[in-house]
Amino acid sequence: MKALEGVKVLDFTHVQSGPTCTQLLGWFGADVIKVERPGVGDATRKQLVDVPGADSLYFTMLNHNKRSIELNSKNETGKEILTRLIEECDVMVENFAPGALDRMGFSWERIQEINPRMILASIKGFGPGKYEDCKVYENVAQCAGGSASTTGFRDGPPLVTGAQIGDSGTGLHLCLGIVTALFQREKSGRGQKVTAAMQDGVLNLCRVKLRDQQRLNAGPLTEYSQYGEGVPFGEATPRAGNDSGGGQPGRILKCKGWETDPNAYTYFITQAAVWEKVCDVIGAPEWKTAEGYAKPIDRLDKLNEIFDRIEQWTMTKTKFEVMDICNPLDIPVGPILSTKEIMEDDGLRATGTIVDVDHPERGTYTTVGCPIKLSDSPVEVTRSPLLGEHTAEILQTVLGYQGDEMERVIASGAVGDANEIAAE
Ligand code: COA
Repeated sequence: MKALEGVKVLDFTHVQSGPTCTQLLGWFGADVIKVERPGVGDATRKQLVDVPGADSLYFTMLNHNKRSIELNSKNETGKEILTRLIEECDVMVENFAPGALDRMGFSWERIQEINPRMILASIKGFGPGKYEDCKVYENVAQCAGGSASTTGFRDGPPLVTGAQIGDSGTGLHLCLGIVTALFQREKSGRGQKVTAAMQDGVLNLCRVKLRDQQRLNAGPLTEYSQYGEGVPFGEATPRAGNDSGGGQPGRILKCKGWETDPNAYTYFITQAAVWEKVCDVIGAPEWKTAEGYAKPIDRLDKLNEIFDRIEQWTMTKTKFEVMDICNPLDIPVGPILSTKEIMEDDGLRATGTIVDVDHPERGTYTTVGCPIKLSDSPVEVTRSPLLGEHTAEILQTVLGYQGDEMERVIASGAVGDANEIAAE
């Protein structure tokens, strides 16, 4: 038994944001039916191809635990099938450009007419307002949501981050909205519309930067390196390099091998509670009692000097040795792990966060499994579907098309290649 067993999801998503959401629903046990344009499919199937002729990792890594039906939703028979799917499903998820669903003839009002219990979940770049019609990709959301202006170093340009907070982050937000709406439907009996804008999702993750924006009214942000460097603050939250975003100062510091290994670094936090242990470990016991160093508030204008001294010590150790020494002392540190190291991490493999999956076109590949663990709803990661792999199965078993009706539907051209469907 899986948490969302029995929930049918009509997955009209593409690229990254929507698919990450429906993949989570699939991992929690929902039956996810991915609708794709006949012969074309999700654009990511053929983007960044590494194995010629096979679905890309971009697609496979975002579309596990789903079934695929080819369906032209602009063809009359296609619309009939889509209407039947809306009748049968509990949740419909989409992240088309603004207005695309209306142009197909499936407005929220129409969907409610077909199935009043339907939960329609949508991701758009922006919420209602002057940018509501814009098409949006990841980095636009990072820029518009406050992430880029607060990421990077003060003397450099704004930076986007590698974590896909606009796409996958908004997918997560939407997923929470969907299960919340399913919970409410238990009591109300009604579906509802769930929307998550990528700008809003990024902003939610940048909450502490808006905290700092308002703290500026009360004076300089003392935990930022620029305070100690005597650089005045402007009118907006500045970029803070690798400064810790909280009240405990932290930095990324070089470790042994940094000259040749781009990831031979550690994050090091001088948490106030363990300051004396930090002083002992780095060989600066005099700082435990010295005027200007003993109290956290007195150290704020000396962070560059303090972290330089700590770095002299971390540079004599590998990032893993720093971890091994500091961890038992409760000094919070963290090695900068490369993607290669993460893929080889036994611990992440043991918990199913990193898994190997077999695929008929591309062989075995490694992917990120479900990062959320439910003790009563274990996740088995199954490979992504081939384009239209389940078209016949869904038409027959979910919608009940048989015999002449099935032939009519196939002949209409709404569901992909007739020979391929016959071969299923
Ligand atoms: N059958 C028939 N037509 C289909 C179809 C199907 N199964 N699936 C999609 N289409 C059509 C759509 O109806 C749309 O047609 P229209 O323009 O005539 O209305 C068309 O395909 C293209 O869809 P669109 O969403 O505009 O794709 P795009 O490639 O031009 O834009 C995005 C991609 C991501 C920029 C855009 O979808 C978007 O802004 N989405 C919302 C924000 C988002 O999720 N962004 C992050 C993506 S990771």
